[in-house]
Amino acid sequence: QQLDLELAAIEKGNFDHFMLKEIHEQPQTIRDSLRGRLLAEQGTITLSGLDKIENQLREANRIVIVACGTSWHAGLVGEYLIEELCRLNVEVEYASEYRYRNPIVSPKDVIIAISQSGETADTLVALENAKQQGATIFGIVNVVGSSIARISHAGAYTHAGPEIGVASTKAFTAQLAVLQLIALKLAEIRGTISRELFGVLLSELNEVPDKVQWILDNQVNHIQNIARQYKDARDFLYLGRGYNFPIALEGALKLKEISYIHAEGYPAAEMKHGPIALVDEMLPVVFVATKDAYHEKIVSNIQEIIARKGKVVAVVSEGDDTVTGLAETVMVVPRAHEIVAPLLAVIPLQLLAYYIGVERGLDVDKPRNLAKSVTVE
Ligand code: G6P
Repeated sequence: QQLDLELAAIEKGNFDHFMLKEIHEQPQTIRDSLRGRLLAEQGTITLSGLDKIENQLREANRIVIVACGTSWHAGLVGEYLIEELCRLNVEVEYASEYRYRNPIVSPKDVIIAISQSGETADTLVALENAKQQGATIFGIVNVVGSSIARISHAGAYTHAGPEIGVASTKAFTAQLAVLQLIALKLAEIRGTISRELFGVLLSELNEVPDKVQWILDNQVNHIQNIARQYKDARDFLYLGRGYNFPIALEGALKLKEISYIHAEGYPAAEMKHGPIALVDEMLPVVFVATKDAYHEKIVSNIQEIIARKGKVVAVVSEGDDTVTGLAETVMVVPRAHEIVAPLLAVIPLQLLAYYIGVERGLDVDKPRNLAKSVTVE
């Protein structure tokens, strides 16, 4: 056991926990997910896995994304991306529901499975069922040679490297990076994207690793202070719209997992239909409010919370004074196209959850009751 402890210390390097190390690895892991696939200079994307099922994709009626937990949140971002860029119908399913409810599956369906471990029992069985009914299975998996990777017809590994912290961080951003590549490549195959937008998004995606590094270099101490300030809150609300709605869900999940504080993620406009009743001066409300098509709308949602004395913490784009003037405190990310913004916006939320967990004296790498990989029902 002593040896195990020493080995763990070596692997963690200078970091106190695997989770923090993995958060900090993200510029590199995102680069690894893009390497050899996003060829910025040539202006092309190569994804051999997609080539394998190009015909099925051309003829697909719809794509069904199946996943659990954090991977399901990546799936939601994928839905928005693929619908927007490829004009193709996408449904996102919790694997545990999908496997039991006798879903309608046709041989024209392409099922995308997203899984860090590649071993999640519900996801695996959902795929086996869909495969039996003739659907094409595409796996976005981190662990090479895992069960889900093996039963897929084709796939793309996320290349995030081993993830030890139970709460998923670098595997999530790697999943997002791969989904970006898939959406862009598929849009090109289906002819639903202009050359110009394709080029813009390629270089935006290419810049993500440096922008993530900027967040890590400039925001960590500040986020640690925010964590100290809010560590005793009983509940948190996380709100976002569009591409940032799944990021709000993921931010809330991270906080629940490692700080044991009750947190709910919601689409910002939907808060009027319930969660707004919770708002008072005790409730921190985290807005994912980067500059995008929904910006004005989210600013008015922020005003609604402030009018009810809620404490607003916001993730904002660099140089955006609108929200900075309103919120109690902000966490800044570099400006980016709204389509790649989720890859940046999630980083401060991972850090916030991490530091709140640490401030509360918890074992953030091994939260109670949670397993890294859920291989039983
Ligand atoms: C568990 C883990 C989560 C993960 C989920 C899905 O709940 O604690 O971090 O998101 O399983 O796992 P998968 O390996 O399929 O992505």
